[in-house]
Amino acid sequence: MNRRSIIGHDIHLSDIISGSKGFLDGSATEKFREIFSAFINSKHVHFTNSGITAFYLALKALKKKSSKREVILPAYTAPSLVVAIKKAGLEPRLCDISLRDFNMDVHAVEEMITANTLCIVCAHMFGIPLSEVKKIKEMAPEDVFLIEDCAQSMGSRIGGSLTGTFGDIGIFSFNRGKNLPTYGGGVIVTDADGLSGDIENSINGLGVPGTSDQLSLFIKFIALSAAFRPSIYSILCLITQKFREDSVPTDFEMAKYTPVQAQIGAELLQRFDDSSERRYKNGMTILKALNNKDGIIVPGMEVNVEPAFNRFPVVVQDINRMERIEDALTSAGIENSRMYLKPLHHIFDLGYKETDFPNASIFANGLIALPVHPLVKDDELNIIAEAITETK
Ligand SMILES: Cc1ncc(COP(=O)(O)O)c(C=O)c1O
Repeated sequence: MNRRSIIGHDIHLSDIISGSKGFLDGSATEKFREIFSAFINSKHVHFTNSGITAFYLALKALKKKSSKREVILPAYTAPSLVVAIKKAGLEPRLCDISLRDFNMDVHAVEEMITANTLCIVCAHMFGIPLSEVKKIKEMAPEDVFLIEDCAQSMGSRIGGSLTGTFGDIGIFSFNRGKNLPTYGGGVIVTDADGLSGDIENSINGLGVPGTSDQLSLFIKFIALSAAFRPSIYSILCLITQKFREDSVPTDFEMAKYTPVQAQIGAELLQRFDDSSERRYKNGMTILKALNNKDGIIVPGMEVNVEPAFNRFPVVVQDINRMERIEDALTSAGIENSRMYLKPLHHIFDLGYKETDFPNASIFANGLIALPVHPLVKDDELNIIAEAITETK
């Protein structure tokens, strides 16, 4: 049976052909920088090899500007953020999430701010924008920075403006499953000249992947675009399933972004608005189908947000039912994922109790993430909704 993968993107042969030009065109990164800067409406744009490198370099730049050391972040997000915070010599401080939109709880953030808070990391999880991001900026003291982690939310909007433009710094990821996938990559955006200068200096010190590494990334990108087709994915799944692991990250490699990836990024960005719209429509279709269904929590949407969903999160309150739904979706050929299996305080020893951040724990225990990428078809959305509502 064909399987619909949890991640996907509409990649054309012309994107691949154009990407190959990046091997010869040394100015590809510069050109992508220009169009990305215009797209995001941010003065400074700096590319890196990954979203986590982007986050780390952003933290390092902030650390230079202040003697404060605490970084507030949601208790349910990518574990690699904790690794980057520690690597930067800073202290992670968690706050609970809200079960309304699955992002950090703004009241909890307010209570967490101390005289030692360097910055607040607002991660727009699953592409759902934290609509109160402006409020966080306003309520925080002026010398507390705001980083928007848009690794999962590229293309999502609040009041018409793209996420990543509300704080002091925005970071994005171009990894395989992200909204603009160039098989790895990350970007830091900021309007602050001082921060930009420090970030640029750090990036200048990073190594450039060699030609063979660039070739390998390019081949993997081609393989990825093939794997997004259900017929090919079904075969690949059988092979890759054995190698899947959910190990806790301990470190990450840092390098410059490659011109080949930049060339691909520039191609994909041309059709990006269409793909974001599709992500929005797909997510909203599932949302409508599952709204107010017993035992299922779906994210609430403020009227001013337009999420380019990366995956669509639902929380199933009964764990046994959650497992049955996972099985029903898999049997129907729909890949689904539990994302990060635990909240951050259950993964790392950060000095918290098991029972702290109850919403993050409820969320991690009951989460099923669903595919809503641009390749998901309407009949597959119906299959998803049916598998969930009819599995009791
Ligand atoms: C919220 C969030 N932040 C940061 C990252 C790191 O991005 P990358 O995988 O490009 O290092 C991820 C990756 O999944 C993420 O989901």
